[in-house]
Amino acid sequence: MEESEYILETENLVKTYPGGIKAVQGINLRIKKGQIYGFLGPNGAGKSTTIKMLSTSIKPTSGTAKIMGYDIVKDSMNVRRIIGVVPQDLTTDEDLKGIENIQMVARFYDIPAREARKRAEELLALVDLSDFGNKYVSSYSGGMRKRLELVVGLVHNPKVLFLDEPTLGLDVQTRAKMWDYIKKIRDELGVTIILTSHYLEEVDSLADIISIIDHGKIIVTGTSDELKSNLKGDIIQIEFATEAEAKKFGEYENKIDVSYPKETEARLKVKDADYELPEIMKYLVNNNIKPLKFSVHKPSLDQVFLEYTGREIREEEGGDVRKMAMNMRRLRR
Ligand SMILES: Nc1ncnc2c1ncn2[C@@H]1O[C@H](COP(=O)(O)OP(=O)(O)OP(=O)(O)O)[C@@H](O)[C@H]1O
Ligand SMILES: [Mg+2]
Repeated sequence: MEESEYILETENLVKTYPGGIKAVQGINLRIKKGQIYGFLGPNGAGKSTTIKMLSTSIKPTSGTAKIMGYDIVKDSMNVRRIIGVVPQDLTTDEDLKGIENIQMVARFYDIPAREARKRAEELLALVDLSDFGNKYVSSYSGGMRKRLELVVGLVHNPKVLFLDEPTLGLDVQTRAKMWDYIKKIRDELGVTIILTSHYLEEVDSLADIISIIDHGKIIVTGTSDELKSNLKGDIIQIEFATEAEAKKFGEYENKIDVSYPKETEARLKVKDADYELPEIMKYLVNNNIKPLKFSVHKPSLDQVFLEYTGREIREEEGGDVRKMAMNMRRLRR
């Protein structure tokens, strides 16, 4: 098997669904071992389609991808051995106990019963579910269920774990807890993690590398800091008592840009607010202008997204875990 610096590489990966829907339009990825790689994109961007191709559940229309040197189409059996997948929809069976769910998956992988039990106990402990392993999943909270889903995908010791929207529909605190578990999986098990999300804070806090994906294409890739620094500028916004003062402040020389949200308010874009602020203070004092209200904004991933896609990312309300669980129940009947 060829050695590569990258654990996962793709070459112009394309998926066109029947009917001509171009869900993924030529994606090139280079993912290093041990990274948490985040795909950020709005609904319908092509995130799940990409994950489904990489995890061999659907075939690409064209292009190739390799995971640890194995081709996702020609070597799909080997790929399945080394990857774990936690799909966007819930997969655990709520009529089984937590531990039984893990043991059931272990049987698919031909893991001997005794080993499976040990592994299940370790995995439950990893996500603080030891006390709940013998309880039925139907009694779990949304957060507990998502934690169980996380470790079910780890039963066969995969090297790469795909997480499709791991915290969709969870409240903010529960989501932040999930992030800790995801980091723990990478740190303690050394698993490379590829996750999708449409929550900016999620990829910002979790991912080492972020790709913004929209309409089936990767728009930009980088660390959170790199993406933000590409915006070249911090915003200093000041409100004054008079329009004349706002205009005078707007004449401050060392700026990238100025706009006036209100007649008495000026918004200055500067390269680095940390260095510019003392100079701006001097300028205000020298010109006898007195600010009423002062604020400094460092760029956020929100702005990055807006800058690159021309739109704000929308947060979906519909993906509630309980609603998903209900759908699952309906499907099984
Ligand atoms: N099985 C399918 N058949 C036809 N079109 C599909 C199918 N699955 C997805 N699509 C379409 O492909 C596009 C990409 O969908 P995909 O599910 O990959 O997006 P996503 O980024 O995961 O979105 P979400 O945030 O809603 O999960 C969408 O336009 C979607 O409607
Ligand atoms: Mg999806």
